[in-house]
Formats: sequence, structure tokens, C-alpha cells
Amino acid sequence: MKGHARSLAVRIALSFAVIVCAVVGMVGAALYHATNRALSTRADYQLIARVEHFRSLLHDLYTITEIEARPRLFETMLGDSQDVIVFRRPGSTPFINVNPAHMALPPLSVVPVARRVGLDALYEGKRPDGVRMRWVAAQARIGNSGEVVEIIAAHVMTQEARVLSVYLMRVWITVLCAVLLTLALAYWVTSRGLMPLRLMAGKAAEISPNRMSTRLEVARAPAELQGLAASFNAMLDRLEHGYARLLQFSADLAHEVRTPIGVLIGETQVALAHERSAPEYRGVLESNLEELERLARIARNILFLAQADHGQKHIDRERIDIRRELDAVAEYFEGIADERGITFEVEAGGELVANAIMCRRAISNVVVNAVRYAQAGTVVRMRGHEDADGACIVIGNRGPRIARDELARLFDRFYRGDAARSESTESSGLGLSIVQAIMRLHDGRVSAQCTPDGWVEFTLRFPCGVQSPVVPA
Ligand SMILES: Nc1ncnc2c1ncn2[C@@H]1O[C@H](COP(=O)(O)OP(=O)(O)O)[C@@H](O)[C@H]1O
Ligand SMILES: [Mg+2]
Repeated sequence: MKGHARSLAVRIALSFAVIVCAVVGMVGAALYHATNRALSTRADYQLIARVEHFRSLLHDLYTITEIEARPRLFETMLGDSQDVIVFRRPGSTPFINVNPAHMALPPLSVVPVARRVGLDALYEGKRPDGVRMRWVAAQARIGNSGEVVEIIAAHVMTQEARVLSVYLMRVWITVLCAVLLTLALAYWVTSRGLMPLRLMAGKAAEISPNRMSTRLEVARAPAELQGLAASFNAMLDRLEHGYARLLQFSADLAHEVRTPIGVLIGETQVALAHERSAPEYRGVLESNLEELERLARIARNILFLAQADHGQKHIDRERIDIRRELDAVAEYFEGIADERGITFEVEAGGELVANAIMCRRAISNVVVNAVRYAQAGTVVRMRGHEDADGACIVIGNRGPRIARDELARLFDRFYRGDAARSESTESSGLGLSIVQAIMRLHDGRVSAQCTPDGWVEFTLRFPCGVQSPVVPA
């Protein structure tokens, strides 16, 4: 997997290198452009100054004959060995012609004697090899004679071009160095920055079913990773809790089925020890059947709980009349209630939204407990009403106070109180777990409390039926 995935550090370093390349490149280009402009402007002003200088020389100092006698004088005044200076009478051949590259003179409009040479008089040109040139032409008066000559001057920007090409080279080298340096630094910095991630991975790798207690250090993680570390720890908490429950559950399950299986084996062995009569065999089989039914019931209940735990149970909900439901349950348990001299008192109204079968099962499980664990000869109170949050059913019976920590454990799988354990055949300790699972499936909840005036109360709270579509009853 590692081979395919591109490293985050490499990715970040590359991104930074691209950014730096763009930024440095842009700055370099801008500076190059500015330098180019500055050099050109300076060259232009120099060219203009030179022409003006020649104009005043011609006017103040020299006659044409004197100039013709010293052609080299003007050559030394030029800016570049390639520069051009041409003096001529209008329309005739030049009397001074410094033009080392023998360039053809472009058509130029000549600045008249009366006007100063300005930037607007300059012409842009190119030497055949591509180097830029600036041309200018101006008239000059010789002394006071009134004779006018044309000065044509040109500057070849060879030096400027050389400076610029060196400059360009430097820009490229700078960009290259910046990119390489950024790559190296960004990679180093990011690798260091990602260290906590690697530490976290190391910690996570230590976790196994036997070592579930390891946790990531949230406080020491960088801000960006704290959320991840916290979620990871929360996930571990849930896993650890679930794992512990699973261990407890399998231990309880083994414990629970061991007794009936032991009884089955014992009775069968005893029966097989001697030749028995048919009624004796029948007796053993009947007793065995009872144990087997008990085992089957446990298996069914465990299967139900397992499915509920996995959220595999699909539930169709419908509207249920609370009063009618409680009456039906009371009627069903009238027989066993009578045996203990217990009567029901139903006080209910409104509707609730739930799965009919599961709702009946949950209420029955609570009511059968109430009947079984209530003091003989008392009343079991069944109340129910609809309210803004949904509906609420409270089953109460008179009985001894239950300690607070025991109250919470009543809903644990296989938990049984002392009274339940003594009459072991009926009780398996799964009844309230199933109630809880059913209430969870309905997004509701169940709770138990003891009131100060001696009631043990179980409250089933059903939410409004808005979450899932309601099938009309
Ligand atoms: N109404 C009640 N009054 C007193 N104790 C109760 C009541 N309902 C449940 N319990 C206690 O909770 C335990 C768990 O109940 P349950 O899960 O239904 O298992 P079971 O009824 O099979 O023992 C019971 O063994 C009993 O000790
Ligand atoms: Mg029960």
C-alpha cells in the first residue's frame, strides 16, 4: 500500500515549490521588465543629449570644413562602437558617416532647427541580428551662416542587451535555486510536522484485544489532529466497552446453559443406570423436555437480543390505543396474578406509535415481573398517557426498596435478583434486557425507580412516531 500512496510531505513540498516558482518567476519577470525600461529610457536620453550636443558644437565651434577634417572626433563621442552618426547637407551624400555596421538609414522625419529634440522624435529599429536600435534625425545650423545640415544618429543597444541577458540568466538561476531550496526545506519541515501523525499511527498499532486500554494523547497532539485523536479515543472507548460486554455475555451465556445441560445429563445418566419402566422413562423425558424448553427460550431470547443489537430488526409501527393495550395485558396475566392475590389497576388514555408485537412483549415482560416480585395481595398499577414527547407507560408494584446501583443493573443480561434466583425455572434474567432492546429499537427508553412511598416503578417512554412512516392501524 505504501508503494502506491504518494507521501503527504512530497505532495506539500511539490505544491510549495510550484508556488515559489510562480512567485519568484513573477517577481523576476517584473524586475526584468522594469530594468529593460530603465535601460532603454537612459539610452534614449543619452542619444537625445548627444544630438543636442552635436547641434551646439556645429552652431558654436565648427564649420563644415573643420568637421570634415576631423571625422574621428565625433566617433569618440559615440556611446557604443556600433553607434551611427551621419552628418549631411539635406539631399546630398554625408560628409561624416560613422556607420560601422553599414546599416541602411530608415526614413526619418527630421526635427527642425528651431525645435528641441524630444523622446517623440525617436524611432525604434532593429539590427539584422535582432538587437534593438534607436534612431533620431535633427537639423543643425552651422555657425551664423544660416547653412543647415542634418544630423542622423542611432544607438545600438548591444550593451543593454548584454546586461539584460545576464540579468535574465540570473533570474532563471534564482528561480531554480529557490525551487530546489523550497523543495528541500518544505520536505524537511513537513516531514517534521507530520511526526505526530506517525507517533499516533505507532500508538494505534499497539492496540489489540488484550491491550485495549491504550489511548492517544489528545492534549499533546497538534490542534489539527486533536479532533482525530479524540474521535479515535472515543471509538476505542466504545470498542472496549462493547468488547467487555461481549466477554461478559459469553461468560454469562456459558454459565446459564451449563445448569440446564448439567441437569439433563444427570437425569439421563441416572435413568440409564438401571432398566426402567415405561412411566419412569416418560417421567424423565417430561422433566428433560422442561429443561430443553428453557434452553430453547434462552436461545430465542439471545437471538432476539443479538438481532436487536445489530439493528437488524425492521420494525413496522402503528398507532396503538394505550388503554386497550394495558387492559389486554392485564387480562392475559389475570390468572397468575390471582394465584398471588394480586389485582391490576389500569388508568390510561391516548395512543402511542410502536410495533404492536414488540410493544406487547415489552409491557408483558415488565408486568410479569411486577406480578412475580410484588408483595402478595397488593395492587399492580398500570398507567399510560400520551404527551408532547410521545407516550409514557408506568407499571408499578409494591415491593422492597432496590438499591440505586442494583436498579441500573436490572437491565443487564442474565441479571437476576435473589428472589428470582430461588425459583430458577421461570427466570432467566433476560426479560428486562429485552424490554431495553425493544425500547432502543423504538428510539425510546426504559428506566426503573423506587418511590419513597414503597412503589417499584418501571417507565417505558415511546417517542412520537414522526421518525418513521406510520402504518394506520
Ligand atoms: N417489579 C420488580 N420488582 C422487584 N424486582 C424486580 C422487578 N422487576 C425485575 N426485578 C429484578 O430484576 C431482575 C431482572 O429481571 P428480568 O430481566 O425480567 O429477569 P427475570 O425476571 O428473568 O429474573 C429480576 O431477577 C428481579 O430481581
Ligand atoms: Mg422477568
